[in-house]
Amino acid sequence: SSSSSSENARFGRSGSLSSIPPPAQKIDVNPPKGTRDFPPEEMRLRNWLFHNFREVSQMFAFEEVDFPVLESEALFIRKAGEEIRDQLYCFEDRGNRRVALRPELTPSLARLVIQKGKSLSLPLKWFAVGQCWRYERMTRGRRREHYQWNMDIIGVPDVTAEAELISSIVTFFKRIGITAVDVGFKVSSRKVLQEVLRYYSIPNNLFGKVCIIIDKMEKIPIDEVKKELRSAELSDEAIEELLQVLSIKSLTKLEEKLGAAGEAVADLKQLFSLAEKFGYSEWIQFDASVVRGLAYYTGIVFEGFDREGKLRAICGGGRYDQLLSTFGGEDIPACGFGFGDAVIVELLKEKGLIPEVGPQVENIVCYLDPDLQGAAVSVATILRGKGQSVDLVLENKSLKWVFKRAARINACRLILVGSSEWQKGEVRVKNLSTGEQYEIKVDKLE
Ligand code: HAM
Repeated sequence: SSSSSSENARFGRSGSLSSIPPPAQKIDVNPPKGTRDFPPEEMRLRNWLFHNFREVSQMFAFEEVDFPVLESEALFIRKAGEEIRDQLYCFEDRGNRRVALRPELTPSLARLVIQKGKSLSLPLKWFAVGQCWRYERMTRGRRREHYQWNMDIIGVPDVTAEAELISSIVTFFKRIGITAVDVGFKVSSRKVLQEVLRYYSIPNNLFGKVCIIIDKMEKIPIDEVKKELRSAELSDEAIEELLQVLSIKSLTKLEEKLGAAGEAVADLKQLFSLAEKFGYSEWIQFDASVVRGLAYYTGIVFEGFDREGKLRAICGGGRYDQLLSTFGGEDIPACGFGFGDAVIVELLKEKGLIPEVGPQVENIVCYLDPDLQGAAVSVATILRGKGQSVDLVLENKSLKWVFKRAARINACRLILVGSSEWQKGEVRVKNLSTGEQYEIKVDKLE
């Protein structure tokens, strides 16, 4: 090997241009497992989806923000034993810093809010659409990279904030053709758990951990859940009580159980009453078993689900009033949600609601004589200068070829630059949907 490395060095110095390269190894043309390419047809669907995310966010007067995809690993390390922690893509960079690809946007948002401090005027209403990375077990609608639409309200302690967020998701669903027959929201509050834990004098610092264990209830056997709860120092009696409360599916029953005085019941009642005013009552239902899998939620939590029960959660969110202090900042009441780009597309497919988003170009410009290349360039430039989209045929092609291309890119008008018209300072225009044809002065082009 020493001889080959000296040989490499020799080739390196001489530039090795004349040496014969080794036969190229065929690379794997698939993207890394769990990640996606976006060829044009996929990209059009993604743009359509993101356009709707953005329009709805703007309808609710939220401002767009973004953060780096690469963050300090420390931002995502929480002690509660969350799944997200084990799914982190993390590594050491060349400067020996521990970094991670973000698995979610909320910690970055919290970081920015702390950084901006008093210069921010509350409440903030921020939204973001960003790529997140989680080393997940791949299932339908779960992948290792996904885009998440987030909307967050910082600085409003009242449940109106949660109600407003759910309203924006409902607005989004309606826009893309999804109804309350297709999806619903399960809503609960972590304060329900908190009140049970408090009753059994279970210390507050176990709260996050207990929530994470409870969140696994649908994924692991109940005995396993009980075992984990026991190891979190809950008594058998407390565990039984907890599980009983979690099975409650009506607010009236919850009130019977916890009494009317607690915050959990009061918050939930307010949310359901606001839902009536917003007009989305039929979309939401109380379900005490919803706790969500992230440690930082402190109050109302909710998730969007498909009523046929075929898919994973469509979106999820809740109130996180104490996240900022875990980063050394001053707490500010906050709530928000994350809405992935994968499950919703599966749902749209199920319902036959994937929109037809073909390409669309206003003009296709071609020249019929090799001498007229420059003329075609001028025509394209004039049209673009007026804000029109133009597919300029870059080579001298036959009319048959041009018509085929025009159909493929869904062009509205064909603009032919031919010598007899050009001599008169004109071009021939063909409206491709009506078939109408006319000649027009180049300076009259619109
Ligand atoms: P999350 O529940 O972990 O919450 O994720 C929110 C949504 O992101 C999920 O409901 C799903 O739509 C999507 N999602 C998550 N993981 C994947 C995956 N591996 N593949 C495809 N989609 C996925 C959060 O991330 C919170 N930070 C949301 C939030 C914002 N809470 C308050 N503000």
